[in-house]
Amino acid sequence: MTILVTGGAGYIGSHAVQRLLRDGHDVVAIDTLFRGHARAMHLLARAFPGRLTFIHADVADRALVEGILRARGIRDVLHFAAMAYVGESVEEPLRYYRNNTLASLALIEACDRAQVERLVFSSTAATYGEPDASRIPIREDCPQHPINPYGASKLAVERMLADWCASRARAGRPVAVACLRYFNVAGSDASGLLGEDHHPETHLVPLVLQAAVGVREAITIFGADYPTPDGTCVRDYIHVEDLVEAHIRVLGALRPGEWRAYNLGTGRGASVREVIDACRRATGREITERAGARRPGDPPELTADPGAIARDLGWKARVTSIEDMAASAWRWMLAHPRGYDDGAGGA
Ligand code: UFG
Repeated sequence: MTILVTGGAGYIGSHAVQRLLRDGHDVVAIDTLFRGHARAMHLLARAFPGRLTFIHADVADRALVEGILRARGIRDVLHFAAMAYVGESVEEPLRYYRNNTLASLALIEACDRAQVERLVFSSTAATYGEPDASRIPIREDCPQHPINPYGASKLAVERMLADWCASRARAGRPVAVACLRYFNVAGSDASGLLGEDHHPETHLVPLVLQAAVGVREAITIFGADYPTPDGTCVRDYIHVEDLVEAHIRVLGALRPGEWRAYNLGTGRGASVREVIDACRRATGREITERAGARRPGDPPELTADPGAIARDLGWKARVTSIEDMAASAWRWMLAHPRGYDDGAGGA
């Protein structure tokens, strides 16, 4: 079976492509390479000869995507392609609505015309905004009130998908959709082929590890006066391979006409300080930290209640320790201190 993966050259998308190829599927990956990595595609194409088709294009190109779907008879789509920096979305909201919301609309239209049967969408905990303390850990029925354009651009897609799904069911042409709301994704694949490489990097775990490997002097803690146990923000970190496993389970479980939403996290929070300490243990290196101001838009705590997907599909994160997640990210960073383009890892 051939599966379309949008954003297949990105951090999470490339890990998903690898897993699908390992499971015996053929994959068509589409990516603009704006922030994705051609090198990740080369590595996967080499590891799985003849099984991966990479298309350098934008999902917003509806005719092109429809053509691919029809030509390959594709019934399943994993939609990762998006811009995903909260801060940048506040500075440039229209780019986020164009690249996340409008591009997804074009993709959904292509899927609608080409009779796609299942679509799994990368949504985000950012759709919840800043939930009341009484709502943490966050369940899927927590009101979604995003506080930044990134979260809003993704929530709009969730709503389009829900309406599309309902209308198709009414018309007797059911399609199945799942919105997976990611918390904080970290780590890299155990084989060492793929890793996390963002330009610019804004995520805590890779930044702390960059300080450990020496490409960055120190890690700045964005605020230590939050109403949390140690004053720093608490997040729910999930290993990228556990996240991908959840996609595989969801895709396998979706039945015609269903619309599902699941939170993907471990259910345990870790503070910024705890993450830095875990990285110290995982790397055995000194990591210099600096006190910094709060970063605008950061809620004090975002922790998932992943109970729904555990009950429905038996999925649970296997990696629950931040130290293990950091160790997995560290292995790739040691081999690629400057990311995919550092020349390491073979041509
Ligand atoms: N942080 C620092 N210093 C840094 C970088 C981050 O203290 O140099 C802190 C942040 O303030 C935050 C925590 O580390 O408290 C985690 O920050 P990240 O940037 O790694 O992740 P976010 O929680 O901001 O955002 C992530 C994804 C989003 C997603 C969100 C949902 O990047 O795409 O989780 O929870 F929407």
